[in-house]
Amino acid sequence: MMILYLCLPLQLLTLMFSPHFSLSFTAIMSDSGVPSSLVNGPQNGFSMKHDVGARTDSHEQEAVYDIMRATGNDWATDIPDVCRGRWHGIECMPDKDNVYHVVSLSFGALSDDTAFPTCDPTRSYLSRSVTKLPHLKTLFFYRCFSYNPQPIPTFLGTLGRTLQTLVLRENGHVGPIPDEVGNLTRLRVLDLHNNHLNGSIPLSLNRITGLRSLDLSGNKLTGPIPGLTFPSLNILDLGQNLLTGPIPSTLGACLPLIKLDLSRNHLNGMIPEKINGLKSLMLMDLSYNNLSGPLPKSLKSLSSLQALILKGNPMGPGPTTIPNNGFTGMTELMTLVLSNMNLHGPIPESLGQLPNLRVVHLDGNSLNGSVPKSFKDLKNLSELRLNDNKLSGSVPFSREMVWRMKKKLRLHNNSGLCYADKSGFRDSEDSTFNQYGIKLCDEDRSNNNGGSEGSLGTIVQHLSVTRQKSEPTTTNVVSSSSDAPVLVVAVTVTRLLSLTSLLLFTLILL
Ligand SMILES: *[C@@H]1O[C@H](CO)[C@@H](O)[C@H](O)[C@H]1NC(C)=O
Ligand SMILES: *[C@@H]1O[C@H](CO)[C@@H](O)[C@H](O)[C@H]1NC(C)=O
Ligand SMILES: *[C@@H]1O[C@H](CO)[C@@H](O)[C@H](O)[C@H]1NC(C)=O
Ligand SMILES: *[C@@H]1O[C@H](CO)[C@@H](O)[C@H](O)[C@H]1NC(C)=O
Ligand SMILES: *[C@@H]1O[C@H](CO)[C@@H](O)[C@H](O)[C@H]1NC(C)=O
Ligand SMILES: *[C@@H]1O[C@H](CO)[C@@H](O)[C@H](O)[C@H]1NC(C)=O
Repeated sequence: MMILYLCLPLQLLTLMFSPHFSLSFTAIMSDSGVPSSLVNGPQNGFSMKHDVGARTDSHEQEAVYDIMRATGNDWATDIPDVCRGRWHGIECMPDKDNVYHVVSLSFGALSDDTAFPTCDPTRSYLSRSVTKLPHLKTLFFYRCFSYNPQPIPTFLGTLGRTLQTLVLRENGHVGPIPDEVGNLTRLRVLDLHNNHLNGSIPLSLNRITGLRSLDLSGNKLTGPIPGLTFPSLNILDLGQNLLTGPIPSTLGACLPLIKLDLSRNHLNGMIPEKINGLKSLMLMDLSYNNLSGPLPKSLKSLSSLQALILKGNPMGPGPTTIPNNGFTGMTELMTLVLSNMNLHGPIPESLGQLPNLRVVHLDGNSLNGSVPKSFKDLKNLSELRLNDNKLSGSVPFSREMVWRMKKKLRLHNNSGLCYADKSGFRDSEDSTFNQYGIKLCDEDRSNNNGGSEGSLGTIVQHLSVTRQKSEPTTTNVVSSSSDAPVLVVAVTVTRLLSLTSLLLFTLILL
C-alpha cells in the first residue's frame, strides 16, 4: 500500500505521521527533484520482450482517447497503444490472458515534477467514457475544469464495482455532491477539495464503509454534518465550508482517525465527550467555529494528539477555563493553539509538563495569574504567544529560551508581566525598544539602583502598568555562553513547525 500526500502549497508533511505509521509514503513536493508518483508507481505499460502477444483492450483504448480529447489532449489519439510506452497518467494491468486494462487515469499539473497530462481548463469536461473502463481503480483530476464550471457527473456512480480513489481537486465543480457518489462503495479515498460544491453532505456516503480519507474541504457545503460512521477512516477534512449544527458524536466511533479538520465552519455546541476513543488522532483542528464551553474532560485521553487547534471559538456562554489537568496525558502534543477563545482563569502548571510542546498560542484571552514556572522546562518550545491576556508576575524563562524564541515570543498587552534582571530579556533588547513589551520586575529595578532606568524608559511608556505587588522573583537563571548554536537549532525547528501549521493535505491510499 502506498500513501501519497498532496500538499498545497506542496510541501513535505511527513512530520505529522512519523513512526506510528507503518505504511510507506511517497511525498510529492513542488520544489525538489523527488520523482512523481507515477514514476514510482506500479505497472506502467509492458515490455515487448516479455509480453509477446500482449495487447490492450480495444474498447478501453477508445475510451481513453475520448477522455483525452475531452480534456484538450487530442494529441493522445496518435498513441498506438495507451498501455504501452509508460504514458504518464495512464496505468494498466494485464489479466490472465495478457490483455491489458486501464486501472488508473490522472490529469492535471500537480507540480513541476509530475507529468500527468494537463487539461485545457477553458473547455475540458469529464467524459462519460470513463464508464467504459470496467477495471478503473483511480480517477484523478486536478485543476481541470476550472473555467468550464460543471457539476460532478452522476454517471461516476456506475464505477462502483472497481473505483477506489476519486480525486476531483480544485476543478471548479458546482452544484451538490450527487447521491450517486455513495454508490462507489469500494472507495478508499474521496477528495473533492476546493471546488464550489453546495448543498448538504449526502448521507449516502455512509455506504462507503471502507473509506480511509474523506476530504470535502474548501467548498460551500451547508447543513449539519450527518452522523457519519466510517470504521476505517483515517482522514476527515470538512474544513472551510458553511456547515452548521453540532459536531456529531458518531465521529467518536471512527476509531482509526488520524486527522480531524472541521475548521472554519459555523458549527456550534460543545466538543463531544465521545471523542475519547480516538486514540490514533494526531491532528484536531476545530478552529473558527461557534463552539461553546466547557472543554471536554475527555480531551486528555487523546494520547496520540500532536496538534490541537481550537482558536477562534467563543466558548460561551459562561467563562471557560483551561481545566487543571485538561491536557495531562497528551504526551505527544507539539502544537496547542487556543487563541481568542474567551478563556478565563490561570494557565495550568501541568501544561509545562508536556515535554514535546513546540508551539503554544494562548493569546487574546482573559487568562490571569502568572506564567507557570513549569514552562521553563519546555526544552522544545520555539513559539509562545501569551499576548493580550491579563497575566502578571515574572516571566520564568532562561536566557537560552528567550533567545531560542526571539520574535516568536509574544507577551505584550498583559496586566503586569515583568522580567527578571538576569533573564535573557535584558540581552535581547533592542537598544531603542523592548520588542516584548514588558518591564523589568520591581525588585530587580530597586536592586539595580535605577542604573538601567534610562534605557528602559521607552519600554515602559506604552504600557498600562498596574502597580501591583508582584510575586517574589526567582532569578536563578543559568546563563548560557553558547547562544549561537542554540539559535541555529531553533531556526530549524521553527521551519518544521511552520509546515505543521500548514496542514492542508490529503492522503491517497492506492
Ligand atoms: C446509485 O445511487 C442512486 C442514488 O443514491 C440510486 O438511486 C441508484 O439505485 C444507485 N445505482 C446503483 C447501480 O447502485
Ligand atoms: C447551488 O449553486 C447553484 C449555482 O451554482 C444554485 O443554482 C443552487 O440553487 C445552489 N443550491 C443550493 C442548495 O444552495
Ligand atoms: C453562536 O452560538 C450561540 C449559542 O451558543 C448563538 O446564540 C449565536 O447566534 C451563534 N452565532 C452564530 C454566528 O451562529
Ligand atoms: C524535543 O524534540 C526532540 C527532537 O525533535 C525530541 O527528540 C525530544 O524527545 C523532544 N522533547 C524533549 C523534552 O526534548
Ligand atoms: C483571575 O480571575 C478570576 C475571575 O475571572 C478571579 O476570581 C481570580 O481571583 C483571578 N486570579 C488572579 C490570580 O488574579
Ligand atoms: C489587550 O488584550 C485584550 C484581551 O485581553 C483586548 O481586548 C484588547 O483589545 C487588547 N488591547 C490592545 C491595545 O490591543
